[in-house]
This record gives sequence, C-alpha cells and structure tokens, in this order.
Amino acid sequence: MALLPPPPPLLLLLLLASVHRGAAPRGAGEELRRPPPARIGVIGAGIGGTSAAYFLRQKFGKDVLIHVFEKGDVGGRLATINMEGKDYEAGGSIIHPLNLHMKHFAKDLGLSALHGHGGLLAIYNGDEFVFEESSWFVWNFLKLLWYYGLNALRMHMWVEEILDKFMRIYRYQAYDFAFSTNERLLHALGGDNLIHLLNRTIDEAMQKAGFSQKFINEMVTPVMRVNYGQGVNINGFVGAVSLAGADSGLWAIEGGNKLVCKGLLYASKAQLISGTVISLEEKTQQRGRTGGTVKLYEVTYNSTSGLTTELYDIILIATPLQRKIANVTFRNFNPPIPEFSRPYQQSVATFVHGRINTSFFGYPDGSQFHFSSIFTTENPKFFFNSIGAVSPVEDKRSAQTMAVGLPIWKVFSAQPLTKEQINLLFSTHDSVEVKAWLAYPHYSPPEKCPPVVLHDRMYYVNGIECLASAMEMSAISAKNTALLAYHRWYEKTDKIDQEDLHERLKTEL
Ligand SMILES: Cc1cc2nc3c(=O)[nH]c(=O)nc-3n(C[C@H](O)[C@H](O)[C@H](O)COP(=O)(O)OP(=O)(O)OC[C@H]3O[C@@H](n4cnc5c(N)ncnc54)[C@H](O)[C@@H]3O)c2cc1C
Ligand SMILES: *[C@@H]1O[C@H](CO)[C@@H](O)[C@H](O)[C@H]1NC(C)=O
Ligand SMILES: *[C@@H]1O[C@H](CO)[C@@H](O)[C@H](O)[C@H]1NC(C)=O
Ligand SMILES: *[C@@H]1O[C@H](CO)[C@@H](O)[C@H](O)[C@H]1NC(C)=O
Ligand SMILES: *[C@@H]1O[C@H](CO)[C@@H](O)[C@H](O)[C@H]1NC(C)=O
Repeated sequence: MALLPPPPPLLLLLLLASVHRGAAPRGAGEELRRPPPARIGVIGAGIGGTSAAYFLRQKFGKDVLIHVFEKGDVGGRLATINMEGKDYEAGGSIIHPLNLHMKHFAKDLGLSALHGHGGLLAIYNGDEFVFEESSWFVWNFLKLLWYYGLNALRMHMWVEEILDKFMRIYRYQAYDFAFSTNERLLHALGGDNLIHLLNRTIDEAMQKAGFSQKFINEMVTPVMRVNYGQGVNINGFVGAVSLAGADSGLWAIEGGNKLVCKGLLYASKAQLISGTVISLEEKTQQRGRTGGTVKLYEVTYNSTSGLTTELYDIILIATPLQRKIANVTFRNFNPPIPEFSRPYQQSVATFVHGRINTSFFGYPDGSQFHFSSIFTTENPKFFFNSIGAVSPVEDKRSAQTMAVGLPIWKVFSAQPLTKEQINLLFSTHDSVEVKAWLAYPHYSPPEKCPPVVLHDRMYYVNGIECLASAMEMSAISAKNTALLAYHRWYEKTDKIDQEDLHERLKTEL
C-alpha cells in the first residue's frame, strides 16, 4: 500500500549513520566481579526467543550453555502456509524499512529482502468504496487532498515524529543501556508525550492532535483493522506503529520471515529443546566442596521422552504468559508471580485461490475492478477485516509467474469464515487454507504493562507487547532483556534505567 509519501531519504541516512557510529564502547579491562552464569534457559523460539539467544551469546560469551525450549515450530507467530505448491506468510508478514534489528539480522544471516509490488487499495464501508487508489500517484494525492484536506500529509508528519523518537532505542542499545520496565523504556525514548499515548486511544490521540473524525473513520480505522484486527480504540502507541505499517518501502524476508528465527538460533549456538515447558521453580543447591549455595531455576518440560527437568542460572520467557498460549506454572515463588490475564485477539487468516465476487463490492462489471487490497471501515455487518492478494515468499521470478491465473487472496477475520461467507466473497474458488492465531493483545487503554523482571534472574520478553506487538518490538525487547540480565548479573547498575540518555549520548557522537 503506497498511501503515504516516502520518508525523506536524508533523515533515513542520518538515522542509519548515527546508529552505525554508535558501536558499543567496551569499558577497558572490564572487571567482572562474579563468575559468569553457566546455563541460561529461554522459553519460546519465535523472533523474541531466538534473537534473545543471539544477544545473550553476544553479551555472555562463548562458554555459557544456552537452551531454547519450543513446543511447536521455530518461528512461532512467523510461519508460512503452503498453497498450490507455494508458501505464503500466514503470521507476521511486513517489516518497516526502519526496523533496524530485523534489517541487521537479515544482513548478518545472509538473507535477502523481498519488496512488495504494491497493488491498488480500496476502502469499503459496507455500501460503497470511500476511497479508491489509482495507479497515478498525483491523482491519489489530489484525491486525498480533496476528501481529507491536509489530514493525510499531517498524519505522515505526526507518525514520523513518533518514529523519530522511537529510533533512539537503537542508539541506547548500541551503548548497552537497558530498562527494567517497559514504561521506563518508552519514557526514555519520548518522555511523557510518548507514555501518554498508552493512556488514550489512537482515536483520542488523533482527535486531540486535530485530525478530522471523517479521516479517522475512513483512513485510520481500516489500517488498525488490517494490522491489529481491532478499531481505533487501541492505545495511541500501537496505533502509531500500525500507521507506520502503512508507509512505503515495506519488505519481508525472501523464503519466509521465520528463516530469521532459524538463522538466529544457529548463529547463537544455542541448543533447541523440543518440548512444552510446564513449570518453573527456584531451587537452592550446594556448590561443590567450597560449601556455598547457589540459586537455580528448575524448568520442568514435557517432550517425547516424558517429563524432564533442567536447571538454569538465568531464565528468559519469550512467549506471551497467557494460559491459552503458554500454560506455565510458577511454583512456590514468594511473593507469587502474578497472573497476566490480558486477553489475546483472535485473528484468522483464510487463504483462497479464486476470483473475487466484484458484485459484492458493487462492481457488477468485474473488468472495472482492479484492486488488490480491500480494507474496511467499522461496520457491525462485516464478517471480515481485510482482503488482499498475496505473493509467495519465494524469489521474484516465481512471484511473477503467479501473475498469470487466479491470485491467492488472504482474508483476515476475527471468526473463522463459513462456507457461505466464502461463497459470498468469491464468485469462484478452489483451494482454501485456514490459519487461526491468538495474534496480538486485545488493546484497551489505559495500558498497564507487565514487569520485565519477574524474579531475581527471571525475565519476561513479551511484556513489551502491551506497547505494541510486532517482530521488531520482540527483537528490541530481546536485546533489552539480554542486556538487563547481563547488567544485573554483574551489578552494573549504571547501565540500567538511566535518565536523559538522549541528551547525554548527543555529546558522545
Ligand atoms: C496474523 C498476524 C499478522 C501479523 N503481522 C505482522 C506484521 O506484518 N509485521 C510485524 O512486525 N508483526 C506482525 N505480527 C506480530 C508478530 O508476528 C509478533 O509480534 C511476533 O512474531 C512475536 O514473536 P515472539 O517471538 O515474541 O512470540 P511468538 O512468535 O508467539 O513465539 C513464542 C513461542 O513460544 C512457544 N511456546 C509457548 N509456550 C511454550 C511452552 N510452554 N513451552 C515451550 N514453548 C512454548 C510458542 O510455540 C512460540 O513458538 C503479526 C501477527 C499475526 C498473528
Ligand atoms: C495512566 O493511567 C494509569 C492508571 O490507569 C495511571 O496510573 C498513570 O499515572 C497514567 N499515566 C499517565 C502518564 O497519565
Ligand atoms: C506430556 O505429553 C504426552 C504426549 O506428548 C501427554 O500424553 C502427557 O499428558 C503430557 N503430560 C503433561 C503433564 O502435560
Ligand atoms: C494449565 O495447566 C494446569 C495444570 O498444570 C491445568 O489444570 C489447567 O487446566 C491448564 N489450563 C489451560 C487453559 O490449559
Ligand atoms: C456475489 O455477491 C452478490 C451481492 O452480494 C450476491 O447476491 C451473490 O450471491 C454473490 N455470489 C456470486 C457467486 O455472485
């Protein structure tokens, strides 16, 4: 979707330059007061867990043993589905050009980027299209101006201002700074303004910034529905992330985004353990003949060889702690580890090989209909959130051969589509594949984020999803958590929760 003008390349270059120059300065002759941890356990092999393993290896060095537990497939919410012999992204699919961790992983792992060849977008309100993109850029620009005045242009600037602040994280992390809560992390990036976005809806935030209700309903709501399966009552920060996801220059990993997870796992030299973690408990052990004691976490997991336990110095939990997703019991913790009951939003991806029923959208003459994405406004009668033609994750050559014949469409909905609903949306079709996800948090500001530190040496990577759920967010949290685990192990408190980093690091250029 190319709704918005591209970001100014100069700004992009400046941001990249500042990140590259920020290579982490190592304290000369770093005195480590305490022996390194022997074993670290990571639960979950999605992008969060695998990038955590990668960053843990970078920080703790080659000798620590790292185990990554996974009950399903490596990749988690990054997964492909096979349709007529080709693979398509079924979960997380698009990456923003300024997602620098993802960019760096791809480069480091020798993976190539696939760039979308954006087709035309239309926005449907249940009766008619309220916006139809044309292949002529100037015409779209004039149309947006005519319908919404300066709202579209201003939105681009509004999102860019937030993105600009958000980009500070790369610099802080390059200098090894970590944060002990998700709120502190957000505050360090953009102060009270950014934190306030968690306490109001994107609707309220944009109204307050002077955007028109018509623009919010017809342009902003559809983007929230396609990216997060929810309307403009989600928090302002995830709303802004979602709007950035409508920028130009979006990309994906050739061969499938999940290849990043496999590559990171391999590069981290971590050991994958296929099994379901059931419980965690802290144990005290005698340390050899010296007599001291050491505290370790015992992981109990279930695999094909039955119930097994393993002991670790440090634990990172890289899955949402939600009973329906990861049913992990914390045994005998005092005080107890709280229950995080935030519901996750179901999102069903239905892949259909067929022809769109253009009459359904008020185009009885199908030859007039040339859209490849249909977004929707809020309307109680809708049984779907969006429909879009998709290309396979393989290289561009095979993507082109797809252009002949009927396309594969991906429909997003909150509930599985019935046969009747598929027959209504498609005039003809053959194969259908369905993947249902507990996809992302159900957002409901004011947001209260779960802690990053669950216990002395036990950390929660996925708490960051309360700010926004995205691949890059998990990677940022993985790095933050790895740094935090390291600094807390060696008691380097000067690297944790520092204020005014933005000002302080300016002079370090
Ligand atoms: C349909 C959909 C579309 C999306 N679109 C985008 C997009 O375009 N761009 C974007 O950036 N993001 C997108 N996202 C969000 C993105 O996919 C996620 O934020 C990201 O993949 C989360 O990664 P993670 O590693 O934190 O969690 P997960 O990928 O969920 O990984 C957690 C892993 O832990 C495992 N696990 C759970 N419990 C246990 C246990 N007890 N024992 C062992 N293993 C366990 C799970 O099997 C899973 O593999 C989308 C998500 C969905 C579902
Ligand atoms: C956000 O709301 C919570 C209560 O829900 C409150 O504790 C917090 O202080 C608020 N934060 C800001 C920045 O307004
Ligand atoms: C462990 O897995 C086996 C089969 O995979 C299952 O039968 C058993 O109930 C599981 N046990 C627990 C405690 O989950
Ligand atoms: C979680 O596991 C416990 C036992 O460990 C079980 O009693 C409970 O029903 C499970 N909950 C869900 C939602 O699977
Ligand atoms: C297409 O949509 C129209 C209008 O909603 C509907 O009457 C018709 O049954 C649908 N199906 C086909 C195959 O045309």
